[in-house]
Amino acid sequence: MSAAPVLAIRSSAAATALPFTSPWLLAPMEGVTEPSFRDLVLARNAPHELGGAFTEFVRVVERAIPVWKMREHLGARRFAQPVGVQLMGNDLDALGETARNAVEAGAPLVDVNFGCPAKGALRGCAGSALLDDPARLEGVVRAVRDAVPTVPVTAKIRAGGVDASRIEELARAAEAGGACLLTVHCRTRAELYQDEVDWQRIARAVAAVRIPVCGNGSVLAHADLERMRRETGAAYAMVGRAALGDPWVFAPRRASRAEAARFLLEYVETLVGMGASPRGAAGRAKQLLRFWTAGELLGAPGESAERERVRWLREDDPARLVAWLRERAELADRAGADA
Ligand SMILES: Cc1cc2nc3c(=O)[nH]c(=O)nc-3n(C[C@H](O)[C@H](O)[C@H](O)COP(=O)(O)O)c2cc1C
Repeated sequence: MSAAPVLAIRSSAAATALPFTSPWLLAPMEGVTEPSFRDLVLARNAPHELGGAFTEFVRVVERAIPVWKMREHLGARRFAQPVGVQLMGNDLDALGETARNAVEAGAPLVDVNFGCPAKGALRGCAGSALLDDPARLEGVVRAVRDAVPTVPVTAKIRAGGVDASRIEELARAAEAGGACLLTVHCRTRAELYQDEVDWQRIARAVAAVRIPVCGNGSVLAHADLERMRRETGAAYAMVGRAALGDPWVFAPRRASRAEAARFLLEYVETLVGMGASPRGAAGRAKQLLRFWTAGELLGAPGESAERERVRWLREDDPARLVAWLRERAELADRAGADA
């Protein structure tokens, strides 16, 4: 296993020390990075591989979200790596109180979302809507920062709204508001999740601010993490969808077929244990299967990986999906024992 890359982080006067254990971070993803998935990823990656994670965004509208709800988002398990709570909203008082509640619930850092392109966020003038109003974005960061002076406050932006022409202004607004790390998802709001990305936008943000920047957008494989840092000067790199298909993407080693099957099995069992129906849990596993690349899990004899993926995505019976995963885990175990 190769040594962990050295963190090259420039400090700013206002920065509270960042608690990440490596420069590679798991992106916040609504409907996915809840404790059920996040903990499985954290448990499989050493602190020198995966440096930290975030909750999915917690939407704050008018009223603060209570401490018990924040505890739910953080989950019961703790790891060496920090899990930040991500907030999204525009009501300064409610955001501030929610941030305090998050810290009371145990959050080691609070992140603010300025990237969500969903209609709900735009209607509430939150998430990526604030990319059109850097002064307001700065005010939101400051309100959260002032509310929780004892923990680092970070911000996550897209490269812009309709285009990336204001990326420097947006980065400086987040810094002026008191963010001690800025994550830049290099697509604009208008670009949604298009395949094509321009990492040079991340480099522009790096050049515009003194706080560390975390680059994000189309890191597809482990080697891309270091490449993103090299090509942009970002101190950190964040992985979104590639981690849904390969939860080991933060480490240089490839997972085995048995490990891959066990991950999905454990995910289904965890969800059912938390009260999901077998169908609901299988649906969540399929959400990962859509992206799945780890462990050469897909690809039965005589069938391509893509054909098998489509077949399992169409499978209606949760019991058959679970039986397939069990079989893959056991077959791979047996092959390992025979070798
Ligand atoms: C299913 C899904 C849910 C997401 N939810 C959030 C979220 O809650 N907060 C956030 O800041 N970004 C969210 N994002 C954006 C990701 O954090 C990330 O910025 C984006 O996927 C780009 O990274 P990637 O190209 O590595 O996937 C979400 C993305 C996906 C695919």
